[in-house]
Amino acid sequence: GKGDTNSLTMNKAHPESLLDSSAQDVIGKPIDRIDGPKKVSGTATYAAEYALENVAYGYLVRATVGAGKITKLDAETAKAMPGVIDVITDYATFLRNPQQGGETGAPTQGVEQVAYYGEIIAIVVAESYEAARDAALRLHVDYAPSEGRYDFQTHRNEAEKPSPQQIPPYHEQGDIEEGMKQALHRIDVTYTTPSQNSAAMEPHASLAVWEDGALTLYGAYQMPASDKQQLAKSLGVSADKVRIVAAYVGGGFGSKLGIAPESVAAAIAAKRLGRPVKAVMARQQVFDATVRRSNTEQRMRLGADADGKLIAIGHETITSNLPGEDYFEPAGMATHFLYDGENRLITHDIVRLDWTLSGSMRAPGEAVGLIALEGAIDELAEEIGIDPIELRRRNEPEQDPEKKVPYSSRMLIPCLERGAERFGWAKRKPAGTDRRGDWLYGIGVASAARSNQLQKSAAKVSIDGQGKAHVETDMTDIGTGTYTILGQITAEILGLPIEDVIVHLGDTDAPPGAGSGGSWGAGSSGSSVYLACEALRGQIAKAMGVDEPSMTLKDGRVIADNRSVPLAELVGDGMEATGEIAPGRQEKTFNQASYGAHFAEVAVNVVTGEVRVKRMLGVFTAGRILNEKTARSQCLGGMTFGIGSALTEELVHDPRNGKVVNRDLGEYHVPVNADVPQLEVEFLHERDIQANPLHAKGLGEVGICGAAAAVGNAIYNATGVRVRDYPLTLDKLL
Ligand code: MOS
Repeated sequence: GKGDTNSLTMNKAHPESLLDSSAQDVIGKPIDRIDGPKKVSGTATYAAEYALENVAYGYLVRATVGAGKITKLDAETAKAMPGVIDVITDYATFLRNPQQGGETGAPTQGVEQVAYYGEIIAIVVAESYEAARDAALRLHVDYAPSEGRYDFQTHRNEAEKPSPQQIPPYHEQGDIEEGMKQALHRIDVTYTTPSQNSAAMEPHASLAVWEDGALTLYGAYQMPASDKQQLAKSLGVSADKVRIVAAYVGGGFGSKLGIAPESVAAAIAAKRLGRPVKAVMARQQVFDATVRRSNTEQRMRLGADADGKLIAIGHETITSNLPGEDYFEPAGMATHFLYDGENRLITHDIVRLDWTLSGSMRAPGEAVGLIALEGAIDELAEEIGIDPIELRRRNEPEQDPEKKVPYSSRMLIPCLERGAERFGWAKRKPAGTDRRGDWLYGIGVASAARSNQLQKSAAKVSIDGQGKAHVETDMTDIGTGTYTILGQITAEILGLPIEDVIVHLGDTDAPPGAGSGGSWGAGSSGSSVYLACEALRGQIAKAMGVDEPSMTLKDGRVIADNRSVPLAELVGDGMEATGEIAPGRQEKTFNQASYGAHFAEVAVNVVTGEVRVKRMLGVFTAGRILNEKTARSQCLGGMTFGIGSALTEELVHDPRNGKVVNRDLGEYHVPVNADVPQLEVEFLHERDIQANPLHAKGLGEVGICGAAAAVGNAIYNATGVRVRDYPLTLDKLL
């Protein structure tokens, strides 16, 4: 009946999918984004753009010591300035960024005690943005500075094992030392990667409005359902008093998984003033006071026998975070399952540093972990004297080498082989031998792997009297294509043209979705939409008086029993259903991951050390590809991220106070058009019946995983020089 709920917990395989049996032909197609016209015409409203009456503007104030106590915050001068309404200095109410730990792990420590340079300590509110900024810059703050820990090298020996959490920090299997001893070929090397920033185009922004004790926050966030919980907790109100609206988000890459200080500041100010307050972080504040990807130090040990089969794999990592924070960059994540080998040691230790909070950034773990693993595999191939793809073939496991469970589906070797054929891998020359004028040329390869995750997610789908479908969930589209693929799934199952599906996202008044994170968005929220549509099919069949399997939905019509009826006619006052997906046993019964292979060609200038990436190819498998165009765009973005990570991206921390030195896009170098050559992406098709009813696995992040390593391996092939300290800037190559 009306309002059915269709719930599915993934406790067993789901071999049948309505996406295979439906008569419509929209799923998988490279159709344009349905939100595209709104975006290019400037009518997609982002958080900072809502035109509310009587808005006051907030400007955040940052701490200018790396550690210490605030002894005096003199707001009187600022308050007397024209246009200034208030300076909210009860900094103890602000939180250090509650992180992406969902409802857990949000520290309640205020910032009377400064945790890091750049931490947000106050908000100035004025009639204009300019007035607020002017006053904020004149705010006088006194500190009693204290000793801080600002240098990784100085403190690396104090690294500690993080407290146990979702991802176990240690895995020991067999005897790594013994395995290394027995090995005929050995690699024992250390790779390092720097702190990085997600550098999403849209800065963090919040517009807060209170009405009758309830808050509406227009915010640039990836996971409204959990962000709402965090914000409520921060403000000390119950979650049903908080609504988050995030209809359009200009990129997140992890930095918007959890709430950032501007949301709490805007909400407190708006309540105090009794009027809406908008707080947009300056670009520099995004770098200072949201999250960074931790720097890493990764010791890789690989030991292989005479046949090139791995008998020892060691991946010992050290990353950094603030005292008291549980999160660690899980750099060893893919090492758990990518290659065979009985003796294994994977560890994650944390050094406590008074640097900006570290948290998730695109493909947390694999994005930097594969720099070390795939670099070391390339080194081992060179050491043994076999082709790096052949080495990977010889170490292809039959099952998860640690958990001893099967892979749900795994096409790593086909990706490598297809890529090798298309890229011209057979023409690769020995390292340092392909000189053309002042340039050395080389090609490199690396595997891509990213764990697949399913998250609890719900969505409502309704069909109105005009036969149009409406999808409602608080799931977000952070530039990934969510609007479009949820529209496609609905159109496919309900037999509607895509134009007749209206997708409403990013409003916590709608059923709670998975949010955009960890590459789980499409699979999780897509499945909830699938389940709602499946329930609607049942309702439609009932209204038609036929058996559901004998019914075909196509082009807005219901066809069965030699009858063809417009859907609009059949639904009467309308129909609706809610779908809910939840992870179950399948996640533990199978190792689920997406795979790929990256190929890169580089030229390195022998005089200047300049590196130019000439071309890249990524071949990926991620179960069903829901939209070839938006999927390809995700992979292009990931590969571009890989170029930046390999060559230019590096947050520099001042060793005297931890301050982020290069805190804008002029100084933190993400690749620009001139740095990015023609990139090619190809998908190998598969279905994963263990993952979800869509048979799709995570795709958002697999494109960055291994991309930087392919560039690094190509640089080695070009030059014969192996640099393990990323980014591989020209000074290190000379
Ligand atoms: Mo992603 S780093 O889980 O947004």
